[in-house]
Amino acid sequence: MTTLSPRSAVILGTGSYTPERIVSNEDFAESLDTSDEWIRTRTGIHQRRFAAPEEATSEMSCKAAEAAIAAAGIDRSEIDLIVVATMTPDMPFPSTACLLQSKLGLPNVAAFDLQAACSGFVYGLNVVSGLLLSGRHKKALLVGAEKMSSILDFEDRTTCVLFGDGAGAAVLGVEDCAGKGVIASLSGADGSQPELLQQPGGGSALPPTHASLDQRQHFLKMNGKEIFKLAVRVMGNACKDTLQQAGYSADDLDLVIPHQANMRIIESLQKRLDIDHSKFHNNLHLYGNTSAASVPLALDEAIRAGRIQSGDLILLVAFGAGLTWASTLIKW
Ligand code: ACO
Repeated sequence: MTTLSPRSAVILGTGSYTPERIVSNEDFAESLDTSDEWIRTRTGIHQRRFAAPEEATSEMSCKAAEAAIAAAGIDRSEIDLIVVATMTPDMPFPSTACLLQSKLGLPNVAAFDLQAACSGFVYGLNVVSGLLLSGRHKKALLVGAEKMSSILDFEDRTTCVLFGDGAGAAVLGVEDCAGKGVIASLSGADGSQPELLQQPGGGSALPPTHASLDQRQHFLKMNGKEIFKLAVRVMGNACKDTLQQAGYSADDLDLVIPHQANMRIIESLQKRLDIDHSKFHNNLHLYGNTSAASVPLALDEAIRAGRIQSGDLILLVAFGAGLTWASTLIKW
């Protein structure tokens, strides 16, 4: 927990990348019993991007990272820590962060993956901020990237229409600026109901076999209704607790960037916090739920659109499989 420390972790630059291929709701309706109307009204999603078959998570991460490094205006050799938040790594090992390290040409720099599903980037922000404040690292590259299309069951209309692929990145450093940068944070988890949202097959509990593949166990499974209810509650509480840590109220916020899972979840969060929808930055309609990429994609978009100015109070909040949740309050 960080409140008004004389030194703060700050975001020096952000970048993002989304694959070229746009898949509309109508495209799904050609092969599934679904419709543009159902998807739009139940989720707010109009389209999503899917990566090319050969475009792995590390490729998308690299493009977002290059943009973040350019925006930060630093020499990449200053980076001494790389963290990639993802639940769709290129492969179980080596980590996507190691593959990214090589692609960026940063030999010997510490690199690891962080798995907190859709909360991964915000979790990562809280972990990386702590590492930077400890003095162990000076400049970090944090990426949230997913190739969700690689784990979707395209025969399951209740899940496959919800997700998309993409990557977002941030370069972080430490500055002597009391009351600026990351001023409060919260990360939490409840692992008691993993079955609500999981990819059951492919790991050590259920290694891939012909039978597990036939039973489609290597695809994402979700109890959407339960996740919906939990998401509204845990994100609402996380926002309130994080604001309280730093002595702020919801009225003080200039912008909220919530995990982009479902517009109805975001609207319920707005009601719970009593914040006008104009103070939320959303791009769910364009990209669907890109899991760990969702918050950094929206953050980068908001910065580039001029929606975030120096001195603004920004709240990032996410939830995901685990269940995990995280929020970060930043004085820009
Ligand atoms: N097209 C048409 N009909 C559909 C579709 C579809 N794509 N999907 C489901 N339906 C049907 C269902 O089969 C059901 O039909 P039935 O009544 O005949 O059984 C009907 O629509 C209603 O289904 P519900 O599940 O009640 O629909 P709901 O309004 O709850 O919306 C949704 C479902 C969109 C999944 C919602 O529950 C949701 O968004 N939940 C949260 C999901 C989420 O945020 N997940 C991300 C977590 S983050 C992470 O870590 C990955």
